[in-house]
Amino acid sequence: MTAIIRGHDVGTVTETKQANRLIVAIDGPAGVGKSTAAKSLAARLGYLYLDTGALYRATAWAVIESGLDPADEVAVAALLPSLSIEMPLHHGTATVLVNRKDVTGELRTPGVSAAASVVSAIPAVRAWLLPIQRQIGAGGAVVAEGRDMGTKVFPSADVKFFLEADPNVRAQRRHRELVIAGHSGALEETNADLASRDTRDRSRAISPLVPAEDARHIDTSNLSATEVVDQMMAVIAAKL
Ligand code: DC
Repeated sequence: MTAIIRGHDVGTVTETKQANRLIVAIDGPAGVGKSTAAKSLAARLGYLYLDTGALYRATAWAVIESGLDPADEVAVAALLPSLSIEMPLHHGTATVLVNRKDVTGELRTPGVSAAASVVSAIPAVRAWLLPIQRQIGAGGAVVAEGRDMGTKVFPSADVKFFLEADPNVRAQRRHRELVIAGHSGALEETNADLASRDTRDRSRAISPLVPAEDARHIDTSNLSATEVVDQMMAVIAAKL
């Protein structure tokens, strides 16, 4: 399946059909292991993996590339109609194209992370990205990861998880990822970046990061990735 967002047009192409087509929603702050768990879960279930953060990151990348201030709501909203984001979906990490350019390797820098958190608070951006996320989920058989999967995008999801972890553990995990990806920077810097992104994501007026009332909470601080997915599978198995 390829998610295509071009200006105001939204389209999807379905390739897969499964007997059990649950929507699994995974929310939580950065560094709790959402992506690792969501990818692994999608692979185990044979479901699509929907990384909604990548859509916000791609939008932020385009905003930066256009020389705009990510906080300038009017300018960012005016950019959207000329923007095309394509994300071929599968079980692993998605490739992301912005205006046909492959920007996958540029989306996880600290600059894009911070800008993504800023543009994601703009109502026009969220409204632009909402239909494509819902359309991808409409057929089920999807593991969707983000901040508002269980509350806003898929309030009727079959299973909802909210992941949490100790802030120091989260910073260490994220710092390790950044080092592996070749970015320099101190652990304290990563810690501060995560804290300010968290505050922004949790306190924004539109679709803030809050657990859905019916979400199952998992504290991943002392769990391996496999243990997290095992816990999730135990819940999901009852629904399959
Ligand atoms: O999951 P991530 O770290 O790749 O997300 C990047 C930013 O995008 C995050 O700081 C908040 C925003 N985001 C959001 O507001 N809603 C989502 N469903 C996913 C991400």
